[in-house]
Amino acid sequence: MRFLLTLKSIALAGLFLSSFDARAQEAACELTIEANDRMQFSTLTMEAPASCAEITVTLTHTGQLPREGMGHNWVLTTSGDFNDVANEGMKAGLANNYMPVDDGRVIAGTEIIGGGDTASVTFSTAGMNAGGEYTYFCSFPGHWGMMKGAFKLV
Ligand code: CO
Repeated sequence: MRFLLTLKSIALAGLFLSSFDARAQEAACELTIEANDRMQFSTLTMEAPASCAEITVTLTHTGQLPREGMGHNWVLTTSGDFNDVANEGMKAGLANNYMPVDDGRVIAGTEIIGGGDTASVTFSTAGMNAGGEYTYFCSFPGHWGMMKGAFKLV
């Protein structure tokens, strides 16, 4: 009887630990970044574990200016696609959040937000590679010179 109870305890402890691991893993796949009225992201590098099937990025605009004047978003492409996507996004206009529409080069992108707002995007890592070079940027016209950073799966 005691033996059985012990086995049960071990099984429960294992269950507890594995759900703890799952939660820690999930938390590592959720990233946050801020942008301000001075056209700056709060960090110039971001990374997530390559084991994340999906990643969620939440952008908070900590400024006060409206989206039409100081709009920010978070867009992810390969570093090779970054320039072309940024330029084509400008032509797509604010109505399309300055991203080319239905364009596979855009791995992820949030809507353009203004001061005080928050936007999130969840994307699959299926087509991404650990060690690949990715760039995140704000696609608002004129912003991506300053508002860009390196993204990595590690
Ligand atoms: Co911006």
